[in-house]
Amino acid sequence: MPKMTFIEPNGTRHEVDAPLGLSVLEVAHKHGLDLEGACEGSLACSTCHVIVEPEWFDVLNEASEDEEDMLDLAFGLTKTSRLGCQIIISEELDGLAVRLPGGTNSGHALTYRRGALRGRRGPHPPPGNRRASPLAGAAPPVLRW
Ligand code: FES
Repeated sequence: MPKMTFIEPNGTRHEVDAPLGLSVLEVAHKHGLDLEGACEGSLACSTCHVIVEPEWFDVLNEASEDEEDMLDLAFGLTKTSRLGCQIIISEELDGLAVRLPGGTNSGHALTYRRGALRGRRGPHPPPGNRRASPLAGAAPPVLRW
């Protein structure tokens, strides 16, 4: 089974098993590492941001335009930044090492506003994100004065 290494902001390294077909985000969660992934991999946040070690960056598939858009909102963006939910473990990635940034931007509102301005996304959250809202499907609140 491939292995990969997560490097915390303080330099602590965690070498873990990385099953084929899982995303880096899923591998982090499987091992209890602190990588948020607020939209659960639906490309609607940047909270799964990881910084790929330079020697591994060119081994990865190129980021899609949607991933690049989300990366623009990531905290501590670098030249080798990627979204952990978009890196899928394969045999070629055995030994992959990524750094965990020291924080995240919770950029949902900003993302929708920006998307709406560009006409690429409507004013509503994308379908994959509706599930994440605790208010999805709920009746409007009754206000009492
Ligand atoms: S978990 Fe939201 S984009 Fe990766």
